[in-house]
Amino acid sequence: MIVTTKKLFEAAYGKYAIGAYNINNLEQTMGLFQGNIDSQAPFIIQLSKGARSYSHKAMLEGLIRNAEEVYPDAIFAVHLDHGDEATCYDCIESGFYSSVMIDASHEAFDENIAITKRVVDAAHAKGIVVEAELGMLGGVEEHVSVAEADAKLTDPDQALEFVERSGCDSLAVAIGTSHGAFKFSGTQGLHYGVLEEIQKRLPNFPLVMHGSSSVPQDEVERINKAGGKLLGAKGVDAAQFKRAAELGVTKINIDTDGRLVWTRVHREHFLEHPENFDLRKPGKIYMSEYAKFIAAKNVYLGSSGQLADVRKLLAG
Ligand code: G3H
Ligand code: 13P
Ligand code: ZN
Repeated sequence: MIVTTKKLFEAAYGKYAIGAYNINNLEQTMGLFQGNIDSQAPFIIQLSKGARSYSHKAMLEGLIRNAEEVYPDAIFAVHLDHGDEATCYDCIESGFYSSVMIDASHEAFDENIAITKRVVDAAHAKGIVVEAELGMLGGVEEHVSVAEADAKLTDPDQALEFVERSGCDSLAVAIGTSHGAFKFSGTQGLHYGVLEEIQKRLPNFPLVMHGSSSVPQDEVERINKAGGKLLGAKGVDAAQFKRAAELGVTKINIDTDGRLVWTRVHREHFLEHPENFDLRKPGKIYMSEYAKFIAAKNVYLGSSGQLADVRKLLAG
């Protein structure tokens, strides 16, 4: 069942975070649904602009609609990740997405508000909710390259003003994470103090943490041993999710870790079976390994086992 992120955030606020996982293809979709059903967790499927143009945006929509039939017990939201204004309108018009992210965080404060407000007005008119971003994550986002040195944590006073003026439904905040497999080259860990200050000003308002892959070291070692070259890859300690959730983070974005599982499975498979050219063999292993990864991640997020309660909340 597709629901809005708003409903999921109501259920989770202050207690746990919902995993927001990116998909690009069938194997990721199958693994994602299976892992969330295995762990009885609500979840968010994210589609980036790059994912929508990888094959065709209609293909992803078809995959998700069919997955809903294959997994009738799943409860999830469909979300545009890091949208620009035009892509947000395209998703709002499509009637398929339950939420969109407008990412104008690279713009000046007032311009970020103005763009976000336009998207909020269009989305709310159709019952769709909007995530916005304030502050700049380190690392690389799609079409946006922000030098680590320029990474800017979210200003709590600005966060309050931003939410009031833009009318956004949730806010992605910069608290020390960055996208990709090479995080924390400088300062380490999450800035809980910034989260605390934001929560004081915006009590009960859902916050979002991007760039939250853990980049498991055993995964990186296996990839490198099987011919990869991911030297110095590092991520967020998943044990930090719980405190973040208590401080108002209701959505935690994870993409890179899924790509690492894919890379490990395929590198190891072809190293061990150089004679194989049947794509279904590693594909099958990947779906199963990704499902296991998702189920394990949901335990750290606290979303594992919450499906029955969310179903009750939706019914009541
Ligand atoms: O934050 C970006 C997400 O990991 C999506 O990545 O734009 O390469 O699909 P992508
Ligand atoms: P990671 O690169 O840490 O997986 O972050 C993903 C993300 O923030 C998607 O919006
Ligand atoms: Zn992101």
